[in-house]
Amino acid sequence: MKDVPWHVRPYVLGIPLLAVAVIALQWVRQPLRLNTPDRWISFLCGVGLVALASARPISLPRNAHVSLGTVFGLAATCLFDPTLGGVLFPLGLALAYLFNYLRRRRPAWYQILFSIAAQSLSLYIGAVLYLFLHRGSVNPTVSWGNALAFLLGGAVFVVLNVLLISVAISLSERIRLWEVILLNHHGSMILFVSHVPLSGIVLILYQSRPWAVLLIFLPLIAIHLSYSNLAHLNEAARKMLRSLATLVDARDPYTARHSGRVAKYALAIAQQMGVPYSLQETLQMAARIHDLGKLTVPEEILWKAGKLDAAEWERVRSHPAVGAYLVEGLPLFEKVQEIMHSHHERYDGMGYPDGLTGEEIPLGARILAVADALDAITAERPYRRIRTLDEALADIQDNSGAQFDPVVVAAALAARPRLQALYESAQEEEAAHPLEAEMGVPAYVRSSNQGPSSAVGS
Ligand SMILES: [Fe+2]
Ligand SMILES: [Fe+2]
Repeated sequence: MKDVPWHVRPYVLGIPLLAVAVIALQWVRQPLRLNTPDRWISFLCGVGLVALASARPISLPRNAHVSLGTVFGLAATCLFDPTLGGVLFPLGLALAYLFNYLRRRRPAWYQILFSIAAQSLSLYIGAVLYLFLHRGSVNPTVSWGNALAFLLGGAVFVVLNVLLISVAISLSERIRLWEVILLNHHGSMILFVSHVPLSGIVLILYQSRPWAVLLIFLPLIAIHLSYSNLAHLNEAARKMLRSLATLVDARDPYTARHSGRVAKYALAIAQQMGVPYSLQETLQMAARIHDLGKLTVPEEILWKAGKLDAAEWERVRSHPAVGAYLVEGLPLFEKVQEIMHSHHERYDGMGYPDGLTGEEIPLGARILAVADALDAITAERPYRRIRTLDEALADIQDNSGAQFDPVVVAAALAARPRLQALYESAQEEEAAHPLEAEMGVPAYVRSSNQGPSSAVGS
């Protein structure tokens, strides 16, 4: 629980308490009835289906998940009664977490508790609303009234579920609520929403023949797994590019960890400017891999101590376009690509590769240019003393309106205390973990880093 900020703890613990109180109250009002073998079988099958369908959730950013368990949980609560559903669904989820625990996927206990409670509470309220509004059979297709009531109950469930989880993320990461909702759920909202009609289909199938529910189980799992594999592929692509960027940095001991530091400086400046969170995220990703194109620049050019000739300079100048080309076609990196492509443009139009001016340059690239320069100036070089952050900021200020966007420069100056703290922590990290300890960098890369750094910038 120590990872959870103090101001978020009442919320993270309050929702499980609220869920327990609501279900206990329901139990008092209508005790759990497992008085016939049929009820027992339905209960155990329900728990099993929820557990199986929740065993491989799709990961969303910031530790959020979506699983198919809600499809069966919502249907079971409407089919039987809210008490049975209120017990069956969290039990199924808990079993799924136990299964994942045995597979060594172990979120913190409070994350499990909160996730089970938030899903159970929203599902219970949505189902109870439907049960209150429906008339006759719980089949949502028997009348327009039932169909509307089912949609309303489903909408309440989806909205509550998204809200309860988004509020926790918004509080703990200090991101505006609407931004969390947009960022975390814009690609997966269709999944959440689709669970409502799918529950309706389970209800209809069950009423025709209980075993018919199995007919939908496999196709559902197949669709879910395809989406889950896509999410894994996206994450794998992200990780692979980050590893490649680390290798690029590590080719030269004087630019090691450059991209990581640039990402932190860029974030501090972007937050000072108050840019939307979506741009902050894109910018961080772009900063981590902005020099990826240097993979194609030979080391003798990167390390050349003297002046570069025209052909060598051309090779270096190609790296923003090469980097952007490497991530082309990956939908996840569409906006990242723009920033990578333009991170050496200058505000006065004298940059490369396209000679864009002023606001023609994407805002993310204008911020990245300042952060990149800040690290290039303050980084250790064999041929000159380390320059301080204030000296770097003064240099950048001198180039405001020429190389750099004046608005971004003003933000960097205003963010000076935070940049200073980042600069100092980078120095401490450097001292505590010298390059030789860099994880994941093969020995041949480290051993070949003997040459002096060239003055080609970064
Ligand atoms: Fe760079
Ligand atoms: Fe660069």
